[in-house]
Amino acid sequence: MAGISRRVAAITESATLAVDNQARMLRAAGRSIISFGAGEPDFATPPHIVEAARQACQDPRAHHYTPAAGLPELRAAIAERHRLDTGQALTPEQVLITVGTKQAVAWAFATLLDPGDEVLIPAPYWVTFPEAVTLAGGTPVPVLGDADNGFRITVDRLQAATTPATKALLLNSPSNPTGLVYGREELEAIGQWALEAGIWVVTDEIYRHLTYGDHRFHSLAAVVPALTDRMLILGGVAKSYAMTGWRVGWMLGPAPAVGAAANLHSHLSGNVSNVAQFAALAALQGPSEPLQAMRAAFDRRRREMHRRLAAMPGVVCPEPEGAFYMFASFEGVLAAGPNGPGPRTTQELAATLLDEVGVAIVPGEAFGVPGYARLSYALSDEALTEGLDRLATFLG
Ligand SMILES: Cc1ncc(COP(=O)(O)O)c(C=O)c1O
Repeated sequence: MAGISRRVAAITESATLAVDNQARMLRAAGRSIISFGAGEPDFATPPHIVEAARQACQDPRAHHYTPAAGLPELRAAIAERHRLDTGQALTPEQVLITVGTKQAVAWAFATLLDPGDEVLIPAPYWVTFPEAVTLAGGTPVPVLGDADNGFRITVDRLQAATTPATKALLLNSPSNPTGLVYGREELEAIGQWALEAGIWVVTDEIYRHLTYGDHRFHSLAAVVPALTDRMLILGGVAKSYAMTGWRVGWMLGPAPAVGAAANLHSHLSGNVSNVAQFAALAALQGPSEPLQAMRAAFDRRRREMHRRLAAMPGVVCPEPEGAFYMFASFEGVLAAGPNGPGPRTTQELAATLLDEVGVAIVPGEAFGVPGYARLSYALSDEALTEGLDRLATFLG
């Protein structure tokens, strides 16, 4: 449309939100839809967090502007959590509170990139990463992981994609959409490579509390401490505490970079809702039982979904190690598959599934890997079972 800047016109709608919106609209129109599209827990926010927000509503301090970079007590709590996790002390100036982790992603690239700077983004990737890089004037460089090894990225692949314009590497472990979790040694090799390459690392750790089985989250800051002067760590409360609607995230890093991001934030955002910040503080300082209970539910659903999906004809599906997504190959289901002519792409398959059996999945095209699709298992046990039944019927 005329009048819209090239920069903004180039942004595409978030494919994951689009799938979810479509599912909501069909539901509102009376159809029975099971959505595997949502990237959010189906649980309500734990009561002690809601209670902290209710109390904050009564506190006049929450009614007015507070420091743009965040409530001092929340910044201090996040710095303390980081110290306990990694052994590294941070000053409050090294913590910026953002409107969800999504804004931290946007601010990270806006802070680091000049026009033409390249960012290595392991593929498959969360849909927002390349858009945030492009919007900041940079160039996203997808680096495909090894499909036979859960889409893990290796130093060789990173090195092959590196040019003199490479400014940063994006890491996201546990990963959306694959659910892969890098082990300590893998992370050490990647971090050491980035250190020697002299590039920045932006590490999105939003799913850090959601790992399963023997898989453990490792923070790059703890594994390669020498990198901390060129590392931005992003996180938030949305996924672990069932707080997607509250919109609280953060960025941690060297004071000059976080300070520059805070200046940007002071003009383009201002303080995050104080009520939401007090709620986030209660999440971080309160009991961990609610988080563990949700994690246990995701784990149960993960195993059930994997068991059933992996047994469906034409579907190949590694067991996810973290987050709450399954990233499965549907190549055997597409036109060349045993069922004869049918959808030729996962994009077409997603449309057909929604139309014929009322099941929403997110096609791999959105994550840079056609032939695959992402299915979230952050939905109720009943909905999960019903959705898998419908898929099984469709795939025969
Ligand atoms: C990897 C990753 N980072 C960030 C976000 C956004 O988090 P928030 O809701 O805190 O903005 C998501 C949400 O899907 C995500 O998957």
